[in-house]
Amino acid sequence: MTPPLPWDARHAADIIHRHLHLEGPTLPILHALQEAFGHIPDDAVPMLADALNLSRAEIHGVVTFYHDFRHEPAGRHIIKVCRAEACQSLGSEKTATALLERLGIGWGETTADGTVTVEAVYCLGLCACAPAALIDGDPVGRLDGAKLSAAVEGVRWS
Ligand code: FES
Repeated sequence: MTPPLPWDARHAADIIHRHLHLEGPTLPILHALQEAFGHIPDDAVPMLADALNLSRAEIHGVVTFYHDFRHEPAGRHIIKVCRAEACQSLGSEKTATALLERLGIGWGETTADGTVTVEAVYCLGLCACAPAALIDGDPVGRLDGAKLSAAVEGVRWS
């Protein structure tokens, strides 16, 4: 993963400007801002609202509606654990809860050392391999506590 850049209003303005020609530019711009800065900085919301002639509330509504948009930068590694029905029925909640307790964080939070963020997702299309997760974007299936812990420790110290 590319480390996020510090907030830079000129860079944000450039990102917004480069995507304005797209049809339905809001989501592409938000994704580009998050890719650059690791989250959607609060200062970017009014800039985007002005550029799209929308209200700040409308942009805020989009940012808060989609779980993929972050309000703070994530850790260096992102673990997305599926909490949808098929995975829940095969123990994903128990497995994830044990991981969260061991890391000392809650859903959507990042460890104090900034290495790991654990997020919930709702179906990865891997139901046949439930419980499932994404470890830095790589799918992992048939999770149990040991497999999830090993995968997290593997990336955490890499
Ligand atoms: S319910 Fe978890 S991958 Fe579909």
